Amino acid sequence: MGRNYKIGVIKGDGIGPEIIDEAIKVLDALSANMGFNLEYNEMLMGGAAIDATGVPLPDETIQGVKKCDAVLFGAIGGPKWDNVERHLRPESGLLAIRKEMGTFANLRPAIVYDELVNASTLKPDVVRGVDIMVVRELTGGIYFGQPRELFEDRAYNTMVYTREEVKRIAHVAFEIAMKRGKRICSVDKANVLEVSQFWRETVIEVAKEYPEVELTHMYVDNAAMQLIRNPKQFDVILTGNIFGDILSDAASMLSGSIGLLPSASTGKGVGLYEPIHGSAPDIAGQGIANPLATISSASMMLRYALGEGAAADKIDDAIKKSLAKGYRTGDLGAYDAVEICSCSEIGDIIAKYVSQ
Ligand code: IPM
Ligand code: MG
Repeated sequence: MGRNYKIGVIKGDGIGPEIIDEAIKVLDALSANMGFNLEYNEMLMGGAAIDATGVPLPDETIQGVKKCDAVLFGAIGGPKWDNVERHLRPESGLLAIRKEMGTFANLRPAIVYDELVNASTLKPDVVRGVDIMVVRELTGGIYFGQPRELFEDRAYNTMVYTREEVKRIAHVAFEIAMKRGKRICSVDKANVLEVSQFWRETVIEVAKEYPEVELTHMYVDNAAMQLIRNPKQFDVILTGNIFGDILSDAASMLSGSIGLLPSASTGKGVGLYEPIHGSAPDIAGQGIANPLATISSASMMLRYALGEGAAADKIDDAIKKSLAKGYRTGDLGAYDAVEICSCSEIGDIIAKYVSQ
């Protein structure tokens, strides 16, 4: 009998359900001839969970994800839940599940496909060949720091990192760098923030264990500028939670669309695989969302969580082939497009390619 995997599926809100359906279509087309079997277990989180249960992260989901081999997640949030209390917002569900699952390492690859160099808002020469891995710390920093408070006439959050938190994410980045170009740029704001000075000193300490890797440091404002000026200078970018959130959105536009970038949130146990984009409520239900970031996230899930590298390669190749043939969703614009496709048409094409 083939290998059996339990996949938690959290569709979420907005375009979440549409893009997840396409990823599952592709996974099903693959599993049949790759000798493994996927059993899906759908769970609620975000706005959909608020509507059904009153909270953004029901206990059932917290327990459910722990029983899975990996979790595939779409996106959450939308204007419908914008005015609820912070701890009941859809985003609070996502933050809480990251914490619960211990997924402290968020890997966000920003790759520019040759076929899409014209789709970028930057000049083709600037983006051709870009291949960056953003390693974002995901369960610490200002997102989670205490104290935090909102008063009538003032409010505050706290950016805090412990040595252990910085060390473990630095190790992840160095291990990844060893398998890539052996260069890490650690991004911080050490000229202003104590927490960044601490981050930098700790990363330098960890670097001693990886003499082959070249470590540089950059302030986050400069890094934002350098990403646009000359993105090819970067191999691995190692950074904290909020800087990684911002820089990975910026890096995504090098590729032509945020609708292309996948991510893997890994750490202690079960990993969460999700596109880096949000729930795009403005285009939800129209069938025009780009499912490639989610399909790519499914590929990362096969590779990192399930050890099914050959199947992941098939997805990656199919995505490249579909782009080479000129199939595009609208977000990629009409550049070099042969046909503008719907979300489900792209899913059909990738599913067809992976089963060939
Ligand atoms: C992301 C998102 C989330 C984050 C939001 C939805 C909480 O922007 O995954 O990048 O800030 O981490
Ligand atoms: Mg973000």
